Amino acid sequence: MFPSHRPRRLRRTAATRRLVSETTIRPEQLVLPMFVKEGLAEPVALTSMPGVVQHSRDSLRKAAAEAVAAGVGGLMLFGVPERHDAVGSGATDPDGILNVALRDVRAEVGDATVLMSDLCLDEFTDHGHCGVLDAHGNVDNDATLEVYAEMAVAQAHAGAHVLGPSGMMDGQVAVIRSALDDAGFEDTGILAYSAKYASAFFGPFREAVDSQLKGDRKTYQQDPGNIREALREIQLDLAEGADMVMVKPALPYLDVIRAAAEMSDVPVAAYQVSGEYSMIEAAAANGWIDRDRAVLEALTAIRRAGADIVLTYWAVEVAGWLDGR
Ligand code: PBG
Repeated sequence: MFPSHRPRRLRRTAATRRLVSETTIRPEQLVLPMFVKEGLAEPVALTSMPGVVQHSRDSLRKAAAEAVAAGVGGLMLFGVPERHDAVGSGATDPDGILNVALRDVRAEVGDATVLMSDLCLDEFTDHGHCGVLDAHGNVDNDATLEVYAEMAVAQAHAGAHVLGPSGMMDGQVAVIRSALDDAGFEDTGILAYSAKYASAFFGPFREAVDSQLKGDRKTYQQDPGNIREALREIQLDLAEGADMVMVKPALPYLDVIRAAAEMSDVPVAAYQVSGEYSMIEAAAANGWIDRDRAVLEALTAIRRAGADIVLTYWAVEVAGWLDGR
């Protein structure tokens, strides 16, 4: 008895495999997250994210230009202030590090890539939460929205093409949209971190932004076991005017990416977060995994699940690999 169906026929040669390959990754689909820290003279390497640095203003400009030369689709900037306070003043200050860095990078790269900025307070507050706190120490949703509105206008003014609200406050997309429109920034886009989970995979990011957080973010980020609320968050963000929606983290939430891709009428992004990066780097450093293959496999899976855009710390390196193919 011989098999009457032979799927292996399509796997026999590299040329056949290439012909029938369903999922592609292109440099312009990748967005590079970058950290810039106030007051640094030289970039500082991050122990928990080998190969990633906190940039100085100068090194950020240079790295941004290199990323554009490598063909990446966008840059997502995170600012790390020297001083933190209860309301995250550095976030709304036009001379705050993130706003200054946006100006620097926009001057350097112009419209050659899509310049994005993280719109959240956790990097700027002394308690490390994504919003301001009420008298009982709880994150105050509506008071936070007022700060986000101000932050949005500051970032648009500084030159961001797209803002990435990542604080998971209710109503954040609508408030930011109307603040931008009122200030004459109707062309500034919003990439909503719509379905963002209270994830252990953000661990290494906390070092990257000198996070001051003591507790957790479970009152605003989603329970990892839930998908229905992710779909609801996405629906709300679409209704509030998001230009793109995002699922975060990526690899542990492929089903959420798939569901988002099916329901969304705008592009869907996925954020391959710090922990996803560090796990592969750490395993590879121990000789336990083939690093480059694992990186490509993870990115392919995220694309296969339905992400149009992937935020990844490997964006520049992977863009280089794809170039040669
Ligand atoms: C919030 C924000 C976080 C990340 C991106 N934006 C941290 C958090 O919500 O706790 C995590 C990114 C990563 O882990 O790579 N400003």
